[in-house]
Amino acid sequence: MGNIIITIDGWSSCGKSTLARQLAKALGYVYIDSGAMYRAITLYFLRNHINWADVKQVKSALKEINIDFRFNKITQQSEIYLNDENVEYLIRDLVIAEKVSEIAAIKEIREFAVAQQQQLGANKGIVMDGRDIGTTVFPNAELKIFMTADIAVRVERRYIEMQAKNPNVSIEDVKANLQMRDYIDSNREISPLRKAEDAIEIDNTNININDQLSLALELANKKLQKI
Ligand code: CDP
Repeated sequence: MGNIIITIDGWSSCGKSTLARQLAKALGYVYIDSGAMYRAITLYFLRNHINWADVKQVKSALKEINIDFRFNKITQQSEIYLNDENVEYLIRDLVIAEKVSEIAAIKEIREFAVAQQQQLGANKGIVMDGRDIGTTVFPNAELKIFMTADIAVRVERRYIEMQAKNPNVSIEDVKANLQMRDYIDSNREISPLRKAEDAIEIDNTNININDQLSLALELANKKLQKI
């Protein structure tokens, strides 16, 4: 059987990465978290005090950034490296989440990330999640999924996830951040978050992780039979 490209786009914290990771494992595909790339760039900009309103500074900073994903045999997950440093954990902080959508709206930054994402998918056999994967990065992907869930459920899930790392995070902060990112992500000029016309929507408000995976695997297998 040949390989396909599977894209998973959707709102903040609606389970895209969980599904993408499981799907990739089940199919023996590579999983790429495109949001992690924007988060790693944000980490670099904050650490190095780059003024992202200044195009010159943005362009020269991007020349210093090298991002790659490496498979961790212990956690059995792919992790992101920023200039050879494992930043998988650091980039999940609320400090990064507060700035990432602003930074991800910048043209030069999107071009930089999209070019790498397209290269990573050149041989297919990939599941990539994000906001513009089915619309801009891989408009010809064989299977496009668009995920959504009720805001209350999304906030609760992200709150529990963040509490485990930082007990000082409040549910109000998490909610405000998700709403702000959803607003910026869907209203920006370049590649705004939207459902591709040929994407299949999964609302996982009331679906558990296993049922969600079965549903997506069924969709993937149907596509695989056709190629
Ligand atoms: O996991 P979560 O839903 O919180 O977000 P993420 O996938 O880690 O993405 C973080 C941010 O990166 C998003 O809110 C977007 O601003 C940006 N992003 C984007 O612009 N395009 C993508 N393909 C992926 C993420």
